[in-house]
Amino acid sequence: MLRLAIIGAGRIGQVHAKTIASHPAAELVLIADPVAGAASRVAKSIGVRATGTIDEVYSAADVDAVVVCSPTKHHVDQIMAAVAAGKAVLTEKPVDLSVERVDQCLAAIAGNEHRVMVGFNRRFDPGVVELKARIDAGEIGALRQLTIVSRDPAAPPANYLINNGGIFRDMTIHDFDMARFLLGDFVEVAASGHAFIDGIGEIGDIDTATVTLTTASGAVCTILNSRECAAGYDQRIEAFGPKGSLETANLRSTGVQFNGPAGTGVAGPYLPFFLERYAHAYTNELDHFITAIESGQAPKPSVLDGRGALLLADAADEAAKQHTVVTIA
Ligand SMILES: NC(=O)c1ccc[n+]([C@@H]2O[C@H](COP(=O)([O-])OP(=O)(O)OC[C@H]3O[C@@H](n4cnc5c(N)ncnc54)[C@H](O)[C@@H]3O)[C@@H](O)[C@H]2O)c1
Repeated sequence: MLRLAIIGAGRIGQVHAKTIASHPAAELVLIADPVAGAASRVAKSIGVRATGTIDEVYSAADVDAVVVCSPTKHHVDQIMAAVAAGKAVLTEKPVDLSVERVDQCLAAIAGNEHRVMVGFNRRFDPGVVELKARIDAGEIGALRQLTIVSRDPAAPPANYLINNGGIFRDMTIHDFDMARFLLGDFVEVAASGHAFIDGIGEIGDIDTATVTLTTASGAVCTILNSRECAAGYDQRIEAFGPKGSLETANLRSTGVQFNGPAGTGVAGPYLPFFLERYAHAYTNELDHFITAIESGQAPKPSVLDGRGALLLADAADEAAKQHTVVTIA
């Protein structure tokens, strides 16, 4: 039984709290959040201890592992403190908004890298797991094109966006990890985008982006992002190779379709947002973390994977701003 604490009791902290509380091989013992009442509200509903002092997590003798769910700017300090205190860590994405800070983190956890995992949850979505297994089995041959569509139902408020490093480091980072997971390393990055939504251009960000990533062998991944989408949370992947293509489709509220005078093939709406769409992925991610830590194996994705995704985000940001193609060394 792995005994866990959560740092940060916000949106994703609450997802992890529920997932851990219902996992047969995990025990949630402590939730920490510096904002008065935030940890206790969540802890009370689950029946675990709460604290407003983050340091209590590191000193707690009954905590084996920490799930870092705080705002991104705190991740590196909290990963380093938890590892120094002998805890394993599952940290939310991104590791940080700066490659230099990720490198500081890597230096600080040297020798313990195998005890830190980054929460790129989409790798654990059942559809993605199957897609990857079938690509690896050679069903469609060596990939030539990969298309990732990732559109959110609605943009977060500007006060969230202004602190999160822009669309590529905050949102596309999931897709950069997926691109690396399915296609490997890239040598060139091109990107363009625009701010269509009121308030986003004003903070120097964009809300709609297209990125192309090219591998050394000429395969191309295209990522299509939007911060808003009238149809809801739009999450699709198509992998294309010489022997065919494989697709993961959107999940819907119902698999039953309506056919009638108003339309045919009318299915239910897409699942509302990441909490619902990736519910299984968060559970599978936790499974993987627990199994790896308890067996002494290195969990994936690692902090180095987090660094790889961030390098692509930085390159895309530069490519979009400079209207150029950026080469990855
Ligand atoms: N993997 C995913 O699907 C996913 C989804 C959403 C968010 N995230 C990531 O999770 C992180 C948190 O995002 P969120 O949407 O839950 O944010 P949020 O604002 O809803 O919650 C953050 C929580 O952290 C608390 N907090 C503030 N300062 C803190 C500190 N110094 N130490 C600990 N806690 C602190 C806040 O009080 C709040 O309760 C971000 O890095 C984000 O990128 C990942």
